Amino acid sequence: MSEEIKKIKFTIDGQTAEVLPGTSILEAARQIGGKSVPPAMCYYSKLEASGGRCRTCLVEVSKGSDADPRPIPKLVASCRTNVMDGMEVKNLTSEKTQDAREGVTEFLLINHPLDCPICDQAGECHLQDLSYEHGVEQTRTEFIRRTFEPEDIGENIKLNMNRCILCARCVLVADQLTEKREHGILFRGYHAEISTYLNKALDSDFIGNVIDVCPVGALTDRTARFASRVWFMNPMNATCKCEKCSGKAVIWMKGEEIIRVTGRKDEWGEVEEFICDTCRFHRKDLKFWNVEGPRNIDRHSVISLNHYKKPEEYHRLPENAKVAEIGE
Ligand code: SF4
Ligand code: SF4
Ligand code: FES
Repeated sequence: MSEEIKKIKFTIDGQTAEVLPGTSILEAARQIGGKSVPPAMCYYSKLEASGGRCRTCLVEVSKGSDADPRPIPKLVASCRTNVMDGMEVKNLTSEKTQDAREGVTEFLLINHPLDCPICDQAGECHLQDLSYEHGVEQTRTEFIRRTFEPEDIGENIKLNMNRCILCARCVLVADQLTEKREHGILFRGYHAEISTYLNKALDSDFIGNVIDVCPVGALTDRTARFASRVWFMNPMNATCKCEKCSGKAVIWMKGEEIIRVTGRKDEWGEVEEFICDTCRFHRKDLKFWNVEGPRNIDRHSVISLNHYKKPEEYHRLPENAKVAEIGE
């Protein structure tokens, strides 16, 4: 008979939950939900070995555990630190954490162009959110920012290295989802950059997922670049018959036209399921898709500024859309 695993008690900003041993502080906070969940620019629960690179998720541990209640002297990366029974953590309630996040944001932006008005990620960019919440108004750096020319890495993906924060999520996607990885982080420290080996094309079946996992506008979809701002599109859940992936995607519509296809992201900005490149890049026609209906958009999202309607209020699907039956 299997023994039931005893849950442990965890508190963040005064909110308590019971979680399984081995849960990270970040995942435990996500189980509680709300504003106390630390931001995460490099951790991605669907990718093994992600996290520990960006430091945006730093938190203060004010009580280590019931067994050893001493605080941890330094801030810890919540994505890489597991909870202990009785642990108490401060995120929003910690001045130290908020100060550190401001510093981390400043470092992330040291070489970043912040060219949001022409960046395809604008409106759904975690760095943009972080800058609004924790950024300083003016840069304190005087040196010249390092710059790169945008590069096509394959037929469908554009790399704009100026915007990269070296979170390594795209490298993990290539390692874990494709058969051979042909890009990575080259060089070290200030010189580090994402690049391909000898201008290789990234063209394996699932490589397009690098676009979805990239937290910034460093990797964008060449088939949809500059086609529309996100807040002018209507994202709809849609399904297609696909042999390579589940076919569950989001089609981003402008009128009757599919501008782009992405995975379905959850409230933490992570895709629920990775989709294949055929669905993402080659199914831009409604004939491929069963449209389930509009996605629920967080009312704080800039996409909702487009007077985006909730599913129950929605009355206008594209004329040639096939609407899926429940259970189909
Ligand atoms: S990656 Fe984000 S913060 Fe950077 S330019 Fe694009 S939208 Fe702005
Ligand atoms: S290109 Fe995007 S996903 Fe890849 S390391 Fe840079 S920021 Fe991360
Ligand atoms: S999300 Fe934890 S270090 Fe990046």
